[in-house]
Amino acid sequence: MNATSSAGGDRAAARGQYFLTSARLGFRCWSVEDLPLALALWCDREVTRFIGGPLPRAAVERRLSAEIESMSAHGLQYWPIFLLADGAHAGCAGLRPYRLTDRIYELGFHIRPAYWGQGLATEAGAAAVAFGFGALGAAALFAGHHPANATSRRVLEKLGFHFTHEELYPPTGLKHPSYLLTRAEYLGRSAVPSSPRERE
Ligand SMILES: CC(C)(COP(=O)(O)OP(=O)(O)OC[C@H]1O[C@@H](n2cnc3c(N)ncnc32)[C@H](O)[C@@H]1OP(=O)(O)O)[C@@H](O)C(=O)NCCC(=O)NCCS
Repeated sequence: MNATSSAGGDRAAARGQYFLTSARLGFRCWSVEDLPLALALWCDREVTRFIGGPLPRAAVERRLSAEIESMSAHGLQYWPIFLLADGAHAGCAGLRPYRLTDRIYELGFHIRPAYWGQGLATEAGAAAVAFGFGALGAAALFAGHHPANATSRRVLEKLGFHFTHEELYPPTGLKHPSYLLTRAEYLGRSAVPSSPRERE
């Protein structure tokens, strides 16, 4: 086997671990072995600038455990995402419980700074939204952002969310602009194909 076909084989094997893909990204689930990736993401000053600042190591360990637990309990988490082209860790994106009794989940995305400005948050967000209204059967998705985080606001607008109210976000102690995307809005705005793959 030559180097090219070996690299191609590695990429194909890597794709096998993704339960969800978009044009450029693969989603898999966090595991305890991913602590180095979690540290690189949630100890980063730029990534955490608007979400409470860099986490100490012990807090990252707790956050990673909570993500793993959320997958077991609810079938969702802020999944780690990887570039299909080379397997690089690009950040995380996904869902967490918001108001379970009403089947409302919260959307979030944290992209590593080297990959900002390439449309990856929008692409990952669209895949997570499709998963929410598809596999999860969500009635609506909630999202919020720091008042100064204009980039996050723009991503939410591009995903079709509408502003609803301001809500206290304990990690920053500030009222964060909050948004909703209902199932009807999601279906109505695009007659969207149900999975991100079908949209390509
Ligand atoms: C916010 C974040 C997810 C954006 O990721 P990204 O991959 O760069 O986002 P995208 O490239 O998909 O889209 C960014 C959009 O914001 C726009 N934008 C960038 N800077 C902006 C600013 N200062 N004001 C307004 N819009 C801005 C871009 O032009 C783009 O919109 P366009 O496609 O219409 O041109 C990323 O910066 C990040 O991870 N930040 C830290 C974590 C965080 O704050 N997450 C959000 C809260 S959960």
